[in-house]
Amino acid sequence: MIGIFDSGVGGMTVAKAIEKTLPEYRLVYFGDLARTPYGSKSPETIIRYARENTEFLISKGAKLIIIACNSAASVATETLKEEFDLPIFEVISPAIKKAVATSKTGRIGIIGTRATITSGVYEKKIRKQNSSFKVYSTPCPLLVPLVEEGWFEKRETKMILRRYLHPLKLKQVDSLVLGCTHYPLLKDLIRPRIGKRVKVIDSSEEVAADLKSYLREHSSFAKELTQNGRHHYYVSDITYTAHSIAQRIFGREIQLNKTTYAPQSGEVKSEK
Ligand code: DGL
Repeated sequence: MIGIFDSGVGGMTVAKAIEKTLPEYRLVYFGDLARTPYGSKSPETIIRYARENTEFLISKGAKLIIIACNSAASVATETLKEEFDLPIFEVISPAIKKAVATSKTGRIGIIGTRATITSGVYEKKIRKQNSSFKVYSTPCPLLVPLVEEGWFEKRETKMILRRYLHPLKLKQVDSLVLGCTHYPLLKDLIRPRIGKRVKVIDSSEEVAADLKSYLREHSSFAKELTQNGRHHYYVSDITYTAHSIAQRIFGREIQLNKTTYAPQSGEVKSEK
């Protein structure tokens, strides 16, 4: 199975893109709703959660992991790659690849949670690919709660978006990376506010395309992944809005299984 985790249900935007691009593969998803949000937590805490989530997905049969949370991807990818012997994908690199390939002016905007923006991972990776690129990032801590509350049509949401996007508009970015798995749900509101000429990059679509080419290149490994049965969606808590956000993302009812998974301290490797 393809294991996917996020701090909550936002990562389902990635699960949906994978389901659409690779419909023959089974997914096992874990949304850490009991400990969400990750975006305001320290790197040490996020790394510990990411490690525990990976262990949980492996225990459910995952043979490949996708970190479908920018906050976790920005601080925990290296640790997971060192500690787990299976392919690990994340949402940041494919979005960067796309941004670098599509930007004509070399001016890229990034929006994300505080954890993601503070990590500086987008700047580092983009400039490693092309040191002449200019990267402008803005933390948007109010957007996740607005999505969670389903405030899509509210005047306040549009106002907050305008406020967050304004500095990036002034910098005349020509590409904007949605550096948080909740933001694809705001894409239709973001597009007109950042400007029609700006390419909005949705990491969920990019990671699905990246995974597709990986599986094509690794066909014997791809055959090991389960190709029948149903997808499983686990969450560590069922919050008030979990079902409605999941339904909004998939456009259908999603059965969320509350797991009794509790990290066993003995099983968790010591932090570096
Ligand atoms: N999934 C997180 C991300 O992509 C957003 C929610 C959170 O802060 O936990 O950064």
